[in-house]
Amino acid sequence: MAMKNILALVVLVSILGVSVAIPSPNLDLSYYKSECRDAEEIVRKVTKEHVGPQKTLAAALLRMHFHDCFVRGCDASLLLKSPNNDAERDAIPNLSVRGYEVVDAAKSALEEKCPGVVSCADVLSLVARDAVVEIGGPWWSVPLGRRDGRISRKDEANLPSPFADIATLKKNFSDKGFTANELAVLSGAHTIGISTCGLVNPRIYNFTGNGDSDPAMNPSYVQELKQRCKPTDSTTTVDMDPGSVEKFDSHYFNAVSEKKGLFVSDSALLNDPETKLYIEKQAKLGGPTFNKDFADAMVKLGKLEVLTGNNGEIRAKCSVVN
Ligand code: HEM
Ligand SMILES: *[C@@H]1O[C@H](CO)[C@@H](O)[C@H](O)[C@H]1NC(C)=O
Ligand SMILES: *[C@@H]1O[C@H](CO)[C@@H](O)[C@H](O)[C@H]1NC(C)=O
Ligand SMILES: *[C@@H]1O[C@H](CO)[C@@H](O)[C@H](O)[C@H]1NC(C)=O
Repeated sequence: MAMKNILALVVLVSILGVSVAIPSPNLDLSYYKSECRDAEEIVRKVTKEHVGPQKTLAAALLRMHFHDCFVRGCDASLLLKSPNNDAERDAIPNLSVRGYEVVDAAKSALEEKCPGVVSCADVLSLVARDAVVEIGGPWWSVPLGRRDGRISRKDEANLPSPFADIATLKKNFSDKGFTANELAVLSGAHTIGISTCGLVNPRIYNFTGNGDSDPAMNPSYVQELKQRCKPTDSTTTVDMDPGSVEKFDSHYFNAVSEKKGLFVSDSALLNDPETKLYIEKQAKLGGPTFNKDFADAMVKLGKLEVLTGNNGEIRAKCSVVN
């Protein structure tokens, strides 16, 4: 487009007050090549050291990246601590407050080698990828150059609800630029990790207030869950994808297609033709495209509202602003 046309467009856009999608930010696969050549290798090594012996950390780290990106963009705002307990991380249920030490360890190792260069947002994005790889999931290239935010607010930590229906989920994801198909793909992250009974009990004990369970859930799965989750127990943990919680595979799609999705939001994927088609295809054929689809969706997730250029900062320590 000629410069004149771009100018005209900019003027038009500002007159109309239209909000346009910001052109894809300039993240770059070789961003640290000159200033911190070994950055990726350093992060990979630290992640492996931690996740190798404690596989359940992988889920926590993947979820951490998702949360960071969905709230205020991938700017490591989730890692900030607040003396008043009013930062994003204070809004997250206890259970998920795991894995921060891995990010901190990776950042320390980087600071030793090339101080002040690699952002915490990039560290988190790399750690999430390396953690997934460590438990048998796909590798994807992580474009780098994110900068760290200075603001983290508990009241902004609004994430899709595990009780959400399909219309709400589709809306929540399309608000962030994701298609329904990508919603199904990314939900596949629930092939690893755990939840707490507190998020499951309403579904199995008192779904409509009559002491019933969710009819969208397989009755034998309801019985299984009841064995583990007693009505007043909200803290015991349950596997999200029973039988393979520490392996990043496509089994989640089999579970969901058999009405054994743990959350309402997992089961809801059967209530839309597009997400249902994706679930059933991956289930039937053993996840033929899941690894590639997930990798692509994670790259996209990692670009959400990132700070680049002169915005934000490179934090010295991931839990505090400079
Ligand atoms: C579709 C909307 C989603 C909803 C409603 C949702 C909800 C949840 C909830 C409620 C938990 C359990 C947390 C707890 O008990 O403390 C959880 C766990 C988890 N979520 Fe999601 N999630 C969604 C999408 C995603 C996405 C897109 C990812 C990553 C790409 C993800 C990754 C995970 C992982 C790995 C866990 C296990 C965490 C662990 O073991 O510590 N989720 N999710
Ligand atoms: C979990 O959260 C509760 C209140 O929400 C708090 O009292 C408790 O100390 C927390 N536990 C951990 C391990 O952080
Ligand atoms: C998801 O969408 C619903 C319905 O529009 C909305 O009430 C809720 O706040 C949204 N949640 C997120 C995390 O965007
Ligand atoms: C089930 O829900 C109804 C309506 O909210 C409530 O009155 C009842 O006490 C609940 N029962 C149990 C066992 O929690």
